[in-house]
Formats: sequence, structure tokens, C-alpha cells
Amino acid sequence: MITFRPAAKFDKPVTVLLLDKEQVKNKKFTFTQRVLQEQIHTLSRLGHFTAEDGELYPLLIESNVYLLVGIGESKKLSLTALRVSLRKALLSATAGKAKEIEIIVNEQNDNIVTAAIEAVLIGTYAWKKYRTASDKDKSVDMKDKHVFLVAEKKKAYAEAVAICQGVNFTRDLVNDNADTVTSDYFEKTVKELIKGKANVAVEILSGKDMRAKKLGLHLAVNQGSDKEPKLIIVDYKGAPGKKDYTAFIGKGMTFDTGGINLKPTGHVETMRIDMSGAAAVLGTLKNALALHLKKNVLFVLGIAENAIGPGAYKPGDVLRSYCGKTVEVLNTDAEGRLVLADAISYVVKNYKPARIIDIATLTGACVVALGNDYTGLMTTDDQFSRQLVRSSNETDDRVWRLPIYPELKEAVKSQIADIKNVGFPKGAGGTITAAEFLHQFTEGTPWAHLDIAGTAFNDGTERWYYGHGATGAGVRLVTHYLRHH
Ligand code: BES
Ligand code: ZN
Ligand code: ZN
Repeated sequence: MITFRPAAKFDKPVTVLLLDKEQVKNKKFTFTQRVLQEQIHTLSRLGHFTAEDGELYPLLIESNVYLLVGIGESKKLSLTALRVSLRKALLSATAGKAKEIEIIVNEQNDNIVTAAIEAVLIGTYAWKKYRTASDKDKSVDMKDKHVFLVAEKKKAYAEAVAICQGVNFTRDLVNDNADTVTSDYFEKTVKELIKGKANVAVEILSGKDMRAKKLGLHLAVNQGSDKEPKLIIVDYKGAPGKKDYTAFIGKGMTFDTGGINLKPTGHVETMRIDMSGAAAVLGTLKNALALHLKKNVLFVLGIAENAIGPGAYKPGDVLRSYCGKTVEVLNTDAEGRLVLADAISYVVKNYKPARIIDIATLTGACVVALGNDYTGLMTTDDQFSRQLVRSSNETDDRVWRLPIYPELKEAVKSQIADIKNVGFPKGAGGTITAAEFLHQFTEGTPWAHLDIAGTAFNDGTERWYYGHGATGAGVRLVTHYLRHH
């Protein structure tokens, strides 16, 4: 929990102070406590604490702990580094034990305060559902902490808190078991989110409806599963006078075994995260509701399970998609594009959005190309790209553009069907050929594709200000895009 208060009170057992080099050097502090000022100055003079980026120094004055956090030169300030340092301070032994912590930022500036909020809420998030109490886990959990952040009570800050909650909501969905977060669970979660909201309607297609409407690609992917496939479309009307809709479509593979092209050990263990796109769509919907977003948005979830069994779809099968195009399945592990293709076609035909953003853990090739820090962005629309890159820069939810170009359509041509679900041999250009496959279903609607295969989940212990597990990639990005464009 975060409480904002305009002036520092130094009334908590632990006070975290963000300090830049100039302040420490020139004694230009935002607080008046003389003893504290002198201590910091002495430490600086002796070279013990000079407010280098990431430097931590605990000070004990009487019975209060002051945790000094260096953020380097304020002119060269990196907000990412600030989040990383503040997170480190909050998780340190010093602050970790306190129930109440006061945080004093070095400057009252919206970017700094927002980054501090994110360090608290996103930085200290931890997935603990399956850690039992007997497991004497002393690691920090913000759920039982109260942070007093020295900042004005501004609407923008309350909104930043709400957005972080949306991010963590997405992370909880991604982190949980595949057999918990099923298509039924998604349906239930959507209904809970929109319950009692006046400006929201929902259409839910299950297997029976999909068979009647012939969503042949989506159905095929789910064929080996004992769970229902679902296409969930939430119609959020934040601008009732306007016709303009953005469709935000997420891949929701509740588990991806690879199907008959079964994934090997080393690749299958994390495949419960293959619904991170759909989870990001839901986190963004939560944000839209919390912020009373003044835009019309279709929040779309294509939910299936790529299971293996006697009913599973097969390599070599030719499928008929919702829009009528036939697709040769060369690899049952390239399933996300199949579900998304039908979702895109269905939304284009029945809702006619002005633009589409899809988000998916789509290709391992994207992890090879960009690693884990940048989401792959593909679009044929330069303005769309500029706007998303701007949102990426503003939010630190990073994207990097990869090309989509006319000649790429050759890569998905099939000898026996209209198109095939894998591109070049040996996986060459695997990320952009997957995107081109989706492009074939957009029917000229302006479209942007986000491949979060590398960014949705942190398999290690730490990355930036993320701990192990889901990151909520795409939520801050698209929330920002929807608000500002
Ligand atoms: N869900 C995977 C992509 C993925 C890989 C996500 C690693 C997160 C981390 C996707 O369905 C897949 O398996 N793609 C194949 C496509 C190939 C068969 C053309 C891939 O990337 O290997
Ligand atoms: Zn797959
Ligand atoms: Zn997949």
C-alpha cells in the first residue's frame, strides 16, 4: 500500500532517501534535518557514499534507519536505474524487515515520482501463492507493507498506482498453473472485471459457437484438449459518441505442448506463460476501467490449449479459417498464429475496428533476435510504429521494430493451400514470417504486432526491476498508447 504525503516526516522506522551526486556534493537537500545532512556530507567527504548510481548506504541515527540510495548524476538520470536502485533498497535487509517505510525522492518531478511508484509496486512484486508458511521465507512482500511516499497527492500518481496494479494482475495470471488459468478461468475473470460496469458488453464464443461460425483454425489448435476453446470480446465504450475502435487482441494459449511437434525438455517447462498476450489484454482492460479511459476499445482474448492426444490436429493437415483462407499446417507448434488469425478475422468482419494491436508470445525466434529486454514490434504503418515507440520510451515497456515488407508474403505461400503456418526453412526470419502470416488476415486494417516471447517472463532471478517470473510486458505500453493516441 502507498500513501502520498507532501512533506517528509521522518516518523517511520526506516526512511529511504534517493540522493543524486550534486545534492550530496553541494549539500542541497530536500529536507532540513541537520544531523542527517551533516552525516551524509561527512560520508561523501570521506568517500563512503557519493550517490553513485545504485550505491546503498544504511545510516543509524538514534533508533531510526536512513537508507541512502544513490542515483548518480541527475542530468544523466536513468529512470530504469532509479527503479532498479530503489527496488534494491526496498528488498535489502535494512528496509525489508520494516512494516512502514518512508521514501523521499530527490526531486518532485512526475517522472521521478512515477518511477518510484513503479519501483515499489512492480519492483517488489513476488509470486508467493505456492510458498507455504512453513517455508520460512523472509523475502519481502509489499502486500504487508505500508509505504509513505513524499509527493503531492496528484491524480497522475493515483493513476500510476492503478496501472502498476494492472501490471501485477497480469503477472498473477501468467505465473499461476496452466490447469488453474484455463479458458473457463479467463471467462470467469473477465466477467468479474466488468461486473456492474455500464459501458461494457461482452461476446463469448465457446467450442459450439465456433463450430457454428467455422473458426476452423482456432478449433483445430484446441482439438487435443479436454477444455473448451474460447474467443472473448469485451466491447469497452469509453467514447460513446465516436465510432473509432482499437482492437487489442491477445494470444491465450493456456499451455503450449507444441502438439504432435512436441516441445522437448528445456522448451516446454515454461509454456504455461503462452497466455501472456491474453493476460496483458486483461491487465490493460483493468487499467481502462480503473482510469475511466475515454476511448473505445475491443479487448479480445483468443483462448485455447495446444495439447497432445489422439484428437490433436496434425502436421500436414489443411485447415479452413474463419475468413475462408485455407492453411497448411507444417508444424503444430506454430499454433499461436492460427488462433490469432481467426480472432483477427472475426473481429475485422464483425466489429470493423479502425486499428488492431495484437500481442503474443509468438516466436522463439524473437528471443533469439532481441533477447529479453525488447518486445518485437512489427507493423506496416510508420505512424503506428512511431506512436508505439513513443509509448515505449515513456513507460520503459520497451519495443524494437522489425520489418514487414511486401516480398515477405512469398514466405508463407503453400503448394497445397492458400498459405502455410511456417515461413522459410531452418526458421530463417521466424519472427517476421509469423507476423506476415497474421498480416494476411488483417484485410487492410492498420495493424501492429507485439511479440513478447522474450519479455513476458523472467526465467532467471532478476532482470532490471523485475524478480523471477512474469513481467506484465505490454500492459504499461498499450495502456499508455490507448490513453495518449
Ligand atoms: N509459444 C511458442 C513461442 C515461444 C517460445 C514463446 C519461447 C515463449 C518462449 C510458439 O507457439 C512456438 O512454439 N513457436 C515456434 C514456431 C515454429 C514452429 C515455426 C517457435 O518459435 O519455435
Ligand atoms: Zn507453439
Ligand atoms: Zn505458443
